[in-house]
Amino acid sequence: MRNLRSFPYSTISIVLIHVNILVSFKFSFTEGFDSVIQLPHSGSAGTRPRSKRVFYIDDFGAKGNGLHDDTEAFKNVWKTACSLSRRTKVVIPSGKSFLFHPIDIAGPCQSKVTLMILGTIVAPKNPDVWKGLNRRKWLYFHGVNHLTIEGGGTINGMGQEWWARSCKTNSSNPCRNAPTAITFHRCKNLKVSNLKVVNSQKMHMAFTSCMRVVASHLKVLAPATSPNTDGIHVSVTKGIEVKDCIIRTGDDCISIVSNSSRIRIRNISCGPGHGISIGSLGKSNSWSQVRDVMVDGAYLDNTDNGVRIKTWQGGGGFAANITFKNVFMENVSNPIIIDQYYCDSRHPCKNQTSAVKVEDVSFINIKGTSATEEAVKFACSDASPCEGLYLEDIFLLTNNGGRTRSFCWEAHGSSWGLQHPPACFCGCKSFIRQNVGLDSAIQSF
Ligand SMILES: *[C@@H]1O[C@H](CO)[C@@H](O)[C@H](O)[C@H]1NC(C)=O
Ligand SMILES: *[C@@H]1O[C@H](CO)[C@@H](O)[C@H](O)[C@H]1NC(C)=O
Ligand SMILES: *[C@@H]1O[C@H](CO)[C@@H](O)[C@H](O)[C@H]1NC(C)=O
Ligand SMILES: *[C@@H]1O[C@H](CO)[C@@H](O)[C@H](O)[C@H]1NC(C)=O
Ligand SMILES: *[C@@H]1O[C@H](CO)[C@@H](O)[C@H](O)[C@H]1NC(C)=O
Ligand SMILES: *[C@@H]1O[C@H](CO)[C@@H](O)[C@H](O)[C@H]1NC(C)=O
Repeated sequence: MRNLRSFPYSTISIVLIHVNILVSFKFSFTEGFDSVIQLPHSGSAGTRPRSKRVFYIDDFGAKGNGLHDDTEAFKNVWKTACSLSRRTKVVIPSGKSFLFHPIDIAGPCQSKVTLMILGTIVAPKNPDVWKGLNRRKWLYFHGVNHLTIEGGGTINGMGQEWWARSCKTNSSNPCRNAPTAITFHRCKNLKVSNLKVVNSQKMHMAFTSCMRVVASHLKVLAPATSPNTDGIHVSVTKGIEVKDCIIRTGDDCISIVSNSSRIRIRNISCGPGHGISIGSLGKSNSWSQVRDVMVDGAYLDNTDNGVRIKTWQGGGGFAANITFKNVFMENVSNPIIIDQYYCDSRHPCKNQTSAVKVEDVSFINIKGTSATEEAVKFACSDASPCEGLYLEDIFLLTNNGGRTRSFCWEAHGSSWGLQHPPACFCGCKSFIRQNVGLDSAIQSF
């Protein structure tokens, strides 16, 4: 709270911010928390359900000394567990470090499998190990249904050498792919909880083409300077809940792209990093839609962006029905941002006439401090303006308690309640409520 102390605003307003944030946080937490999945309990040997078989990786030839290649041992224990027709558990024991080379962990399995990671799984340090292999993958789970991963252990991508070789670190390096530490592809009914994921080569954890996922109590850590180390990446996924996570990395804490929907994000502590992002969408003239996203309860500390939607010019599709609420920020550089001119290439992007349509996006109860004066930025497309933006109870000041401002370009919507910085559009919630067309709301402004 160090930054709030120097506010020239009355202490009452400071207290109010706190109370408000605490109250809203408590709300979202209690609401979301009961739904934590009831994970199967191992218990002591005596109470273990008789129907469950437990396999230890050590019994399959793993050494767990951090040097011996334990990939084959894991392949074998997985194959055994996956082929049994009753519930099984695979244990990576504590106090040991298991070196895994890039590995495909495939389903479907004959029944539900729990992977209990108590110890540490480490990646090879040297990127040359990937020669002749797919450079995008390290731990690649695919086609597994009813998989649970838990245990409190650590997955370490040993990314340092990958970062040094990245073109983002040194522009004279060639731009090449680097692995996502853990990928889940085409997995259904997946639960990933209580793990530490550190220093991934590129992204830490990605869910692609998955359905019905709960990711919770994850701690994702990498240096602020590590390139493209997104915390949790969601792509082509329908139905995912990400909650109670701490994410401090060099890129987006959570990024959501490509035809994903029904996304619930709660109680996320993020920063350093690039914040919570939808997009980028529409790269290379692609068509994409992200819908039905609720971010409820986040704390962002010293991030480059707070809550963001970014699209490339020239794309198609939608970013629609998205709500960011109960977010507290400290020293965030772009607290609220929609950028339809996103360009992350070495060369400037040319202006194009199509865009991913951004509509029905709400920002509710977003408070704290901004590292820049421009706390709200809506840079929408000339070709396809943003519509149905909604701001309610926004209170963002600069670090030293100064005023902030909004920037709007082709942004249409309405606002309600507290507005610091002043919103670009009118306080006319009722227009939206009554379903009067946006055009009339804008005209009355
Ligand atoms: C970038 O890479 C080039 C070529 O490998 C090297 O000469 C240079 O010292 C590197 N620069 C930095 C800042 O590491
Ligand atoms: C929010 O997430 C953090 C980090 O996982 C956890 O320690 C805390 O208990 C969670 N809060 C609530 C109210 O669930
Ligand atoms: C999204 O889905 C559409 C229609 O099914 C498809 O044409 C498009 O390629 C997909 N986009 C991405 C980025 O996956
Ligand atoms: C919009 O998103 C909310 C949750 O944020 C969801 O409950 C609702 O069903 C969505 N509406 C549509 C039309 O998709
Ligand atoms: C606030 O963020 C800016 C930009 O990231 C950084 O330079 C500055 O040191 C931060 N200030 C504090 C008090 O953390
Ligand atoms: C794109 O349009 C903007 C705003 O109209 C203009 O400032 C910029 O120079 C244009 N860029 C290119 C590459 O044409």
